[in-house]
Amino acid sequence: MHRMKSYVRRENYSCIMTGLAVIGIVLLWISMTASRSESSSDVPTSAGHAELLSMHSSLQEKISSINRMLNENPALKGTQSLNAGIENALTKLKELESRFKDLEVQVPKKYPDVRFLNYKDRKRILITGGAGFVGSHLVDKLLLEGHEVIAVDNFFTGRKRNVEHWIGHHNFELINHDIVNPLFIEVDQIYHLASPASPPHYMFNPVKTIKTNTVGTINVLGLAKRVGARVLLASTSEVYGDPEVHPQTEAYWGHVNPIGPRACYDEAKRVAETLAFAYLQQEGVPVRISRIFNTYGPRMHINDGRVVSNFILQALQGQDITVYGNGAQTRSFQFVTDLVDGLVLLMNSNFSQPVNIGNPDEHTIDEFAQIIHGMVGGGSGVVHKAAVEDDPRRRKPDITRAREQLGWRPL
Ligand SMILES: NC(=O)c1ccc[n+]([C@@H]2O[C@H](COP(=O)([O-])OP(=O)(O)OC[C@H]3O[C@@H](n4cnc5c(N)ncnc54)[C@H](O)[C@@H]3O)[C@@H](O)[C@H]2O)c1
Repeated sequence: MHRMKSYVRRENYSCIMTGLAVIGIVLLWISMTASRSESSSDVPTSAGHAELLSMHSSLQEKISSINRMLNENPALKGTQSLNAGIENALTKLKELESRFKDLEVQVPKKYPDVRFLNYKDRKRILITGGAGFVGSHLVDKLLLEGHEVIAVDNFFTGRKRNVEHWIGHHNFELINHDIVNPLFIEVDQIYHLASPASPPHYMFNPVKTIKTNTVGTINVLGLAKRVGARVLLASTSEVYGDPEVHPQTEAYWGHVNPIGPRACYDEAKRVAETLAFAYLQQEGVPVRISRIFNTYGPRMHINDGRVVSNFILQALQGQDITVYGNGAQTRSFQFVTDLVDGLVLLMNSNFSQPVNIGNPDEHTIDEFAQIIHGMVGGGSGVVHKAAVEDDPRRRKPDITRAREQLGWRPL
């Protein structure tokens, strides 16, 4: 037994020594490679960088396996030369980690091709909520058109991943900022999208939703007034509440329960529209108001909780599709790229009245569930659960105004 233990110890010892020798050689190789790329006038290539990263992770694995062996065989710990070797390797690893960070900055990144605009046509554009679902598509469109874009987001529902393909581009900036606090920045146009948009998100903290859409909107309008910028407000079809007029025209004032579960969003957006109009009339701030109807597309939050993403997710997971209520309530969905085209047209128009931006192609929720079940598959079909409080029964935009004023309609 004793012989067995000492054999294991001896084996581990030689294993550790071999590990240290390997680490030493790899460290030497990495330092040489890193200094070669530093002394060269060329920045390191992505392939070389990937090679360094894989060396780095294999080194980390080796060190953790040595640490594991030491913990399993405390008798080995006492070996002075071994301890010194490990200490030495760890210090070198730390140095290398900081060198990796420096090298990462130098790795050239490939960006989508953007149009060249001369300084007269190029605008500095602020997008609040720019890391969200709609905001990130707007970032894409405006950058591709050749503008400078500053996205401001507090990342409540937005994600850096949505705009990561632009990070580092000379025309793009991402600022972590909560719009409930004032922002001082020089811009020509502001798309004000910051607000949670799906019911589970805006009901999560109703008071904050109200603040974002009221105090946040005052901050945006105040900024526009100071710097002479034009503002487009992302309002919503929810200002119509559970509508008694069908389809909904912009002239309809709405039917909203002021103390219902959706009120924090619906009423706050109604106040945001009122604020925009007050700044237009009192201060002469040029405002545009888009009433956005249900939109879907890539980069919707996985836990968005809205119909399209819920249905697709359930179908992909092989579950039954859940319809709340009898399924006879109607909705109409537009694709996100249609929406951003409409927003840009509206911003650059001379029209200050609210404009519906949505798809008038209306379906019952049951029909949607069947369409998605037919396309994606999933469980045995569609199940119905109790209706959600204040869920609008019908929703369909009248887009005559968008068509006449902007020449816009969904493709
Ligand atoms: N997507 C739709 O179907 C739809 C329909 C009607 C209206 N809208 C409006 O369009 C806008 C964008 O909606 P979306 O679907 O992209 O939602 P989203 O949740 O994906 O995006 C909203 C963004 O705003 C950010 N945000 C929230 N509170 C903020 C704050 N206090 N400060 C800074 N950033 C904040 C979030 O982190 C997120 O990135 C919203 O104003 C929404 O009301 C969307």
